[in-house]
Parts: sequence; C-alpha cells; structure tokens
Amino acid sequence: RSCAGDRLGFLLSNKLFKCVSGWFTKLIEKPPNSSDVYQNVRQKLVAEMKAENIKQFLRSFTKLPHLAGTEQNLLLAKQIQGQWKEFGLDSAELVHYDVLLSYPNETQPNYISIIDDQGNEIFNTSLFEPPPRGYENVTHILPPYNAFSAQGVPEADLVYVNYGRTEDFFKLEREMGINCIGKIVIARYGKIFRGNKVKNAILAGAQGIILYSDPADYCAPGVDAYPDGWNLPGGGAQRGNVLNLNGAGDPLTPGYPAKEYTFRYKVNEGVGIPKIPVHPIGYHDAEVLLRKVRMHVHTNNKITRIYNVIGILRGAVEPDRYVILGGHRDSWVFGGIDPTTGAAVLQEVVRSFGKMKKEGWRPKRTIIFASWDAEEFGLLGSTEWAEENARILQERAVAYINTDSSIEGNYTLRVDCTPLLYKLVYNLTKEILSPDEGYENKSLYDSWLEKDPATENNSYPRINKLGSGSDFEAYFQRLGIVSGRVRYTKNRKTDKFSNYPVYHTVYETFELVEKFYDPTFKKQLTIAQLRGKLVYELADSQVIPFDCRDYGEALKGYSNRIYKLAKKHEEQLKPHKVSFDPLFSAVVNFSKAAAEFHRRLEQVDKKDPVAVRIMNDQLMFIERAFIDPLGLPGRKFYRHVIFAPSSHNKYAGESFPGIYDAMFDIESKADQHAAWEEVKRQISIAAFTVQAAAGTLKEVA
Ligand SMILES: *[C@@H]1O[C@H](CO)[C@@H](O)[C@H](O)[C@H]1NC(C)=O
Ligand SMILES: *[C@@H]1O[C@H](CO)[C@@H](O)[C@H](O)[C@H]1NC(C)=O
Ligand SMILES: *[C@@H]1O[C@H](CO)[C@@H](O)[C@H](O)[C@H]1NC(C)=O
Ligand SMILES: *[C@@H]1O[C@H](CO)[C@@H](O)[C@H](O)[C@H]1NC(C)=O
Ligand SMILES: *[C@@H]1O[C@H](CO)[C@@H](O)[C@H](O)[C@H]1NC(C)=O
Ligand SMILES: *[C@@H]1O[C@H](CO)[C@@H](O)[C@H](O)[C@H]1NC(C)=O
Ligand SMILES: *[C@@H]1O[C@H](CO)[C@@H](O)[C@H](O)[C@H]1NC(C)=O
Ligand SMILES: *[C@@H]1O[C@H](CO)[C@@H](O)[C@H](O)[C@H]1NC(C)=O
Ligand SMILES: [Zn+2]
Repeated sequence: RSCAGDRLGFLLSNKLFKCVSGWFTKLIEKPPNSSDVYQNVRQKLVAEMKAENIKQFLRSFTKLPHLAGTEQNLLLAKQIQGQWKEFGLDSAELVHYDVLLSYPNETQPNYISIIDDQGNEIFNTSLFEPPPRGYENVTHILPPYNAFSAQGVPEADLVYVNYGRTEDFFKLEREMGINCIGKIVIARYGKIFRGNKVKNAILAGAQGIILYSDPADYCAPGVDAYPDGWNLPGGGAQRGNVLNLNGAGDPLTPGYPAKEYTFRYKVNEGVGIPKIPVHPIGYHDAEVLLRKVRMHVHTNNKITRIYNVIGILRGAVEPDRYVILGGHRDSWVFGGIDPTTGAAVLQEVVRSFGKMKKEGWRPKRTIIFASWDAEEFGLLGSTEWAEENARILQERAVAYINTDSSIEGNYTLRVDCTPLLYKLVYNLTKEILSPDEGYENKSLYDSWLEKDPATENNSYPRINKLGSGSDFEAYFQRLGIVSGRVRYTKNRKTDKFSNYPVYHTVYETFELVEKFYDPTFKKQLTIAQLRGKLVYELADSQVIPFDCRDYGEALKGYSNRIYKLAKKHEEQLKPHKVSFDPLFSAVVNFSKAAAEFHRRLEQVDKKDPVAVRIMNDQLMFIERAFIDPLGLPGRKFYRHVIFAPSSHNKYAGESFPGIYDAMFDIESKADQHAAWEEVKRQISIAAFTVQAAAGTLKEVA
C-alpha cells in the first residue's frame, strides 16, 4: 500500500517515506515493481490531464439542454456514471431525491404587456430567445423564466428600483419618498443574487417584480453581441431561481433528505418561495416598458426526481477520511459555461485519478466525486446529499472542493476558500505554469499575483471569503467542512459587467467558450490541474495540508473590521456597555494556539501513525469548531459563526455575520436598547466560538 504523497513535494518525491509502526505496518508495505508509480503520482496525475479531453467532454455534454428533472439530464447522469466506472473508480452510483422544482406552463406562456386605458395589451414581451445558429432545431429549450415565481396576472404602475438592493430601496423610500406598495417594480440584474432583489421587493410591498438585463451590466464596451462576440443580444434574458432558502435545500423538506418517506410541507408552506410573480426580460423588451404593465406568470411548482452521481475512490490507509470534489451537472439550457466548463474538468480529473488507480495506486484517504443535480433550483442535489449524510460527513469529511464553472472570464485566477486552505492554494499555484499570454515561463501564482494582488497586502494574490451561490454551501456554511472553489475570471478593475454577459441564457454554448473564452482550453486545463492537485494533496498528504495560523490572521482582520464598523456608532458603545474586548482576547488566544499547534506539528513523529492521526483529527475539526448548532438568527442552516452568505446578497461572504447583521441599520431601529443588547449577545457568541476553537488546538493531554 502507498505511503507516498508526503507534503514536501518534489524534494522528497524520490525518497519513499516509510510510516512504519506497530499495527500499521501492513499498510505501508511497498509492492514490488511499482515504486515509480508511487513516487510520481503527484506529477503524473497532472501530466495525465489534457486540454483536448476537456474540450471533447465539453462538446459532448453541451449538445442538448440538461435542465434538472428532465429525461435528458438523467441520461447524462447515466453517461457520467458509466464513464466513471470505465475510468476505474471503485463505484459510481446514482442517488435520487424527490424535490420541488419549477417549470413554465407549456401551453400558457409567461410574458409582460403594456396596457392602454381600456386594458388592451398594446405591447407584449417576447416569449422565447431567438436560438443561436446551429441550435434552431433543438427541442426542450425552455423560455427564460424565474423558477419558483408565484403565479398571477398583476396589473399596476411600474417603479424602477435600480438593482433592487437594500440600499436602493432605502434611497427610494427614505430619500425620494417613493412608495412601492401595490406597484410592479422593475430591477436590473447584477450586483447581488436575484432572490435578494425579490425579497426586497416583497418587503417593500410590490405585487410583482420584473428583472431585466441592462446593457450597462451585460455588455462589455466594444464587443459584439453573440454570435459575433460574447455580449448579450437584446433578445437574451437571464434565467434563474428566486428562492430565499438560506441553506434549507429542498423547500418542502428543510433539514432532511427528500426521500420517499420524508414528510413534506405543502407548497404554500415551502421555505423561501416568493409570494409574488417574478419574470425576466432582455434589454430590447425592457426599453419599451413604461408606466402601466400587466405580468402573466403561470409557472408551476412540481415535485420531481433528481439524480446525483456519486463516485468513490477508496483510500488505502484512512478509508474513513473523505475528500470531496463536487459540482453540478444540470444547466438552464446548454450550460456552455455554467456548469459544463466545470463538469468537463471534473470528468478529466476523475479520468486522471482513475488512471493512477489502474496503475496500482490509491490515495491514503477516500476521494468522493459528485455530479450534483438541481443546483440551479437552489443547490438542491448537493444539499439533500449533505442532509442524508450529515452524521457521516461531520465525523469524516476532511475537505470539499467545488467544481462548478471553471471559467467566467479569461484574465486570471479567482479563489474563494477558508483561510485553512490559503497556504495550500499558494503553494500549489506556484507549481502550475501560468496559461496566460505573456507569462510563458511563469507560474500561475506569479501571473495571479501580478494581475490581482490582495487589497490588504499586495505581496499576496487575492483570496475571497466564501459566500454562497454554488454547491459548497451546505458543506461549509452548515456542516463546517473546509471548502474552496477556484476558477478563471475577468479583470475586476476594468470589466464592470455583471457575471458574464450571456450567463443563464440560450447563448451559453460550446462555441461561445471555444471562440471567445478559451480557444486552446488551456485555462480550463489549468483549473483542472489546480482542482486535481488540491484533491490530491488533501487526500494523500500524510499530514493534512491546512495552516491554522492563517485563520488566526484572518480572524484578526475580521475582528478589526467589525470593530471599525461599530466605531461609527461610537457615542452608543459606552452607554450601552458594548465591548469587543472578549472577541479580541479570543482571537489572540486562537492565534497563539495556532502558532503553538504548528510548532508541535513540525515535531510530530511522522513514523507514529497514531500521533499523526491525532493531529490530523485536530486539523480536520478546526473548521467544525466554528459551527454553532443553533445557527445564525433567523437562518438556522447557516451555522458558521465566522462566515455566512451576506443577508443582502447571497453570493457574497460576510465575516462575523451575527454581529454584522445585528448592527446593520441599527440607527433606524425603534428600540435602541434591545438592538444593542442583541449586538452584545452576538459579540459574546463570536468570542466564545473563537475561544472554543482555540481550545481544540491545544495539546490533547
Ligand atoms: C397550463 O395551462 C393550461 C391552460 O392554458 C391549464 O389547463 C393547465 O392545467 C396548465 N398546466 C399545468 C401543469 O398547470
Ligand atoms: C399580446 O398578447 C395577447 C394575448 O395573446 C393578445 O391578445 C394581444 O393582442 C397581444 N398584443 C400584441 C400587441 O401583440
Ligand atoms: C433544421 O431542420 C431543417 C428542416 O428539417 C433543416 O433544413 C436544417 O438543416 C436543420 N438545421 C440544423 C442546424 O440542423
Ligand atoms: C521559456 O524558457 C525556455 C527554456 O528555459 C526558453 O527557451 C524560452 O525562451 C522561454 N520563453 C520565454 C517567453 O521567456
Ligand atoms: C504582507 O505580508 C508580508 C509577508 O508575510 C509581510 O512581511 C508584510 O509586512 C505584510 N504587509 C502588510 C502591509 O501587512
Ligand atoms: C480574452 O482575452 C482577451 C485578451 O486579453 C480579451 O481581449 C478578451 O476580451 C477576453 N475574452 C473574454 C470573453 O473575456
Ligand atoms: C507550503 O510550502 C512550504 C514550503 O515548501 C511548506 O513548508 C508548507 O508546509 C506548505 N504548506 C502547505 C499547507 O502546503
Ligand atoms: C484568552 O486566554 C486568557 C489566558 O488564558 C484568558 O484569561 C482569557 O479569558 C481568554 N479569552 C477568552 C475570550 O476566553
Ligand atoms: Zn453553476
């Protein structure tokens, strides 16, 4: 069995690391004639990956629409399952759930009209997007719609609410004196998750909301509309769900897997389902809308079977420790970028791991590969699987790496992850060649650092906090499993458009990627290498490659930031006896414990597998220690005390979210005493949690 794959990388790759000790001896026996395989898996795994294969997977997986709950997406699941078995995984199974999905009515279309004084519909928005060249005969393309919209035919004056953000509604209501009660509001897409816009519109009293793509947000200057360029055509409209699930997964079975026997709430009691009609339109139609409009929305909610593919590569030494690589397979239409540039990368990573296994190698720890279903309907497949396996995962999961879209631009790397992974990401990007033009002999780290240095310290490349918006959510925010995501992105300084222009439209095709984003498929290969290397190091390093000193540094930054926010209310802090001292004290204690832990880790006897396992368990459980079983106020499935999706934008991460939310807009709260008492309660929860996490790093006895 293998004992290779130590974390000192190239330097030690020619030495066989022996972890001989007592009853573990059988695990490190070196089988004859295979030492080369063991020595070089780190390099071979990555050398095995080919841009051409990723291209072929992307081509094959994007010929037809793969909407969750459809026959076509089940067929793709079976195809992926078959390939994973061929590639050599120990097993690949379909795992199904029956969850609430949402589809437009085939015979009664959704649209918006302008009505005259007699109520005649004098203008109607388009019923579908003109299909791109070559896809004219494809069937089963659903028109743009907002999944889980309420049904209805509201009629009202239209109010423009900019992006529909919290601050936009504050401005309307508090500065401009504009009231949205009973109105239909129209918000432009971009800046925040669309579900937050819908929630804000409901809170403002609107009876319907139209979402549109503005050229200012969905067209880059000087770029043609697809198919001549990668901008959004005027007839294109962004699909997307408008739930406010706050991590619940299937709206009808919050907290529990949606199995045959599971109790289901009624659809009208479902979590996060909006009570008003919502409909998306393109900028050609948006230009025409004015004054009084009527919305027609007949979208239906329907309990539908979805399928995850779960593949397993059993670990040789610690089969009870899991590293998960998961990403979604379902798409709104062809999924040219989202998710298939990620699903194609997953396929190539699985193929490479399978190849190593066929040559006689196994990782130390078990690797679980997942192709999730129904991500687009609210992260449903990944969340249901997390719910079904929560007990096992909280005891055994080392890390979760997400493999959604591998590109959203072609400029540089983008990383969002827990501070525990910072060092590993920096180390691995130094070992990968940059795919960028003009950086031919440089590392990915070098081009990334030059193009996107961190704001706080420009001697490191930027790494972002995890928010939500993809399948890592349940693993990180609910279960406290170390998580990260990496992809290629646009230039944040110059590219001011939102997402990428044709996001969630029929124009997300294979040709879009091949012509405009990644003609050589090198950027996607780079992402395959990085995702593959992350999984490899997490699964095969003798010591789990987490550095908790970076968590200490991050906590210091977050506590300073939240204190600065509090100081904006300086005159309130003293009278309400608000002190951040316990939080600062806990953060100092955590940093000290982290430094001390790493000193001991350097000295641990690597030949003593029990000693190593003890410290590995401490490493694995650091992230778990930040979980508060009671959850955040009003968001019981967001349980991480250090990070949560922002309450104002699900996509963004917020640090110390409990304190942040308690202080948000506090000056306008009627009962100031109660409001500051809640701030104090949240500070004490944060301080306790950080101190408790520090406790888990101490020497065990
Ligand atoms: C779709 O609309 C038609 C009316 O045009 C109605 O008869 C039918 O029941 C609707 N379908 C569903 C699934 O609600
Ligand atoms: C809009 O659609 C309605 C319903 O199909 C139809 O009665 C009306 O004539 C249409 N209006 C225009 C301007 O096409
Ligand atoms: C679509 O179908 C028409 C009629 O059968 C055919 O002439 C055309 O070539 C087809 N287009 C594509 C892209 O397959
Ligand atoms: C990259 O390195 C190789 C070998 O070291 C060298 O021949 C080549 O000129 C270098 N290319 C660039 C663009 O610096
Ligand atoms: C940035 O990080 C480097 C390396 O850790 C450190 O020497 C430097 O002081 C940091 N700079 C700032 C502004 O924090
Ligand atoms: C790809 O990179 C080129 C060169 O930097 C740039 O001009 C182009 O806009 C990029 N394409 C996309 C789709 O971002
Ligand atoms: C990163 O690399 C350095 C230098 O090789 C090494 O000391 C450190 O352990 C590595 N850290 C992780 C988390 O991989
Ligand atoms: C931090 O550690 C010190 C020394 O052990 C202790 O007195 C203090 O209470 C700790 N802080 C918190 C918030 O527990
Ligand atoms: Zn996606």
